[in-house]
Amino acid sequence: MVILGIESTCDETAAALVEDGRVLLSNVIATSVKEQALYGGVVPEIASRRHCEYISGTVAKALADAGRTISQVDAVAVTFAPGLIGAVLVGVNFAKGLAYAAGKPLVPVHHLRGHIAALYLTHPELKPPFLCLVASGGHSHIVQVEDYTRFRVLGRTVDDAAGEAFDKVARTLGLPYPGGPSVSAAARTGNPKAYRLPVPHVEGKYNVSFSGLKTAVLNEVNQARMKGQEIHVPDLAASFQERITGILAEKLLAAAADTHARQVCLAGGVAANGRLRQLVNDGAQKLGAQVYLPQLKFCGDNGAMIASQGYYEYAAGHTAGLDLNGLPTLPIDYI
Ligand code: KG4
Ligand code: ZN
Repeated sequence: MVILGIESTCDETAAALVEDGRVLLSNVIATSVKEQALYGGVVPEIASRRHCEYISGTVAKALADAGRTISQVDAVAVTFAPGLIGAVLVGVNFAKGLAYAAGKPLVPVHHLRGHIAALYLTHPELKPPFLCLVASGGHSHIVQVEDYTRFRVLGRTVDDAAGEAFDKVARTLGLPYPGGPSVSAAARTGNPKAYRLPVPHVEGKYNVSFSGLKTAVLNEVNQARMKGQEIHVPDLAASFQERITGILAEKLLAAAADTHARQVCLAGGVAANGRLRQLVNDGAQKLGAQVYLPQLKFCGDNGAMIASQGYYEYAAGHTAGLDLNGLPTLPIDYI
């Protein structure tokens, strides 16, 4: 079964064809990230306008790259939640029109479920149940993936998402958007022990909190400025990265130990972080669990992960009518 996946929740307009949830036939991503970088973050209206311009060509290229026409596709899957609503609606409405015109089933996909499905594209042998940290610009969840369409959230951020913390710290340090790649690049030559940053206290064993950490970085910068001192950007970037990845890995591994997880995974944009991958890999091996990490090209937003999850949603009977709406927020276990 071949699924066309369409994604437009943030600044990537993406489309891909995937066979049986696992085999990548094409993967096309158009992005407004360079334009967003001029403003230090995503401007929702710019994202929506670029989606409008890019979506038709992106889907056409995904079909052409796979050597298929829309009539040779079995269903159209689209991210309908959560995300910037003006951006989400572009993908949802395009997918509705396409599904209607081509007479194909329409499959709504939750964005975070899609991030998790990126693992199926990277690891053909991976099957639920597994434990997964999904960390992106908008979310940080520790999730038990009980089955392809059944999820239990064990922990989450009580304030900022991990990717958001990277983005805000980047801005404080004068590094470009998106902050994840720029902070980790700066951290490469820094000393992770140079600055003592706090470990935030948070209720709930597997919950995380990053707003205090973000403020601590801001305080370091402000205090240095008041004293007329220079901040050592690579050292502060490395200290921040060490702290935030340490917290994420520790919480994931604690949940893995407590639930006797045999398979431990990472997903989402922040899963591209090398230090996080290393900490989770080392820690899970010590627990005797198998570790699965997504290929770097599937960490950020893409259509392939939506097509992959779309296959499993379709198999579970989760299709939608032409009254499908987009939603800015929706829990991962909504159904
Ligand atoms: O999953 P994603 O592409 O979009 C959302 O669903 O939000 O995640 C984007 C987030 C951004 O905040 C970005 O700074 C972060 O992922 N990110 C990283 C890295 N690459 C991207 N964070 C840490 N280290 C990275 N290497
Ligand atoms: Zn995402």
